[in-house]
Amino acid sequence: MTLRLSAYGRASAVPSPVNRMMAEFATDFRDGVDINLGVGYVNEKTIPDRRLVEALAEVAAHPERYRQAFNYGGPHGSPNLVRALRRYYLEHRIGGIDEALLARKEIVIGPSGATSILDALADAFEPGLVVTADPMYYIYCNYLERKGFRVVTVPEDHEGIDPDAVDARLTALGDAVRDLAFFYIVTINNPSCAILSNARRRRLVELAADWSRRLGRTVPLFFDQAYEWLLHDPEAERPVSGLCFDDADVVHEIGTLSKVLAPALRIGFMIGPPGPLMDAVVQKTSDVGFSAPLANQEVAAYMLEHHIAEQLAHVNAGYRAKARAVREGIDEMLGPFLEDRGGGSAGFYFYLTFRDVATDTGSPFFRYLTRTTGDPEIDGPAAQRNPRVIYIPGEYCVHPAGASVAKGRRQLRLSYGFEEVPAILRAVAIMREAADYARARRDSERPACPAS
Ligand SMILES: Cc1ncc(COP(=O)(O)O)c(C=O)c1O
Repeated sequence: MTLRLSAYGRASAVPSPVNRMMAEFATDFRDGVDINLGVGYVNEKTIPDRRLVEALAEVAAHPERYRQAFNYGGPHGSPNLVRALRRYYLEHRIGGIDEALLARKEIVIGPSGATSILDALADAFEPGLVVTADPMYYIYCNYLERKGFRVVTVPEDHEGIDPDAVDARLTALGDAVRDLAFFYIVTINNPSCAILSNARRRRLVELAADWSRRLGRTVPLFFDQAYEWLLHDPEAERPVSGLCFDDADVVHEIGTLSKVLAPALRIGFMIGPPGPLMDAVVQKTSDVGFSAPLANQEVAAYMLEHHIAEQLAHVNAGYRAKARAVREGIDEMLGPFLEDRGGGSAGFYFYLTFRDVATDTGSPFFRYLTRTTGDPEIDGPAAQRNPRVIYIPGEYCVHPAGASVAKGRRQLRLSYGFEEVPAILRAVAIMREAADYARARRDSERPACPAS
């Protein structure tokens, strides 16, 4: 018997390759033995669990301030949380945003993290083209395509996506550009952690305004700032908000407290001009759950009001130290194999490009690390396999129809978020063995030189 599934339902009934890979690894993951450099989990030590418990107790103890915190909430988000976010932005001059600018913008809280706001966009827009960087935030881009959008990727470099290349790509689309739905730009990209420079931010905003004029309708530019509060390299340029460059009301910023407080709170928000899009996102929140859990929003408000500065300092110091140690390990052990190493200044990923070592799931490198070579020396005995290392292969991070497919097959995302430094360095050492193994295999498979 068949089901009358929608196109989305049919596409979603088959787990994406990366989900399958992670699920396979998770089923028999051995704590303390296997090393997971694949997950985008935050480091457990950054989660202020005692403070969160304290915050919840304060919320429960002060119903006059945190009203009905264990009841349903409203779809715009908790007024306390929205107020706390506004205050935080202004007190810390986040992105250079000032009071007059913020007063013109609305802040809405999604029902379940930034993810739920991204989801709302996929419902609020007529399916069409979405422009983003390559490598791309594969989770959302994969979702967009299941929802009927076409993701158009433009290769990035260490400064992020190149606006001139975006412009050229849009021009090259010819008539198809009429289907342009929106721009989706991750300011500190996942997977690469490339930081979009301020000059490019400004230029992208101009570009979105320009294409909006040409198409006779607003083509919004969404800046996903999931990692923006995790800019831990003191030498890096301080980001200016895209809202500061926006005279045409095209810019929306999407933020999350997942990476700096706790993913389990599921608090994500969007800042943008009031209007039909904001209203549709609010309605979508109401449709899927009325609001983010109100108690969580109040806890988040309390944390923003009382502990955010010390929390950010703590989290960023932690990732900064980890990034330094891991960078050294990568350079020392994998350096000779690498064409490029990105990331490490913000967020918690490095993005590696090997010169000639394939990293895809069929490659000797991957099979060495997952202990599936078939060679007992490498894999270890079946009952007690040697330590396995998992990463996100670049083949999943680049768009399958984009210009970076071949390059993606020798790239990988390495997360230094979840695991601790000694385990990460052990994993990098095993990666070095895997790279040696891959190179030796390739050399042995090369046709012998003809005898001279
Ligand atoms: C670029 C990007 N956007 C959004 C999210 C999701 O954030 P949230 O936990 O708020 O749903 C992530 C999480 O990894 C991310 O990397």
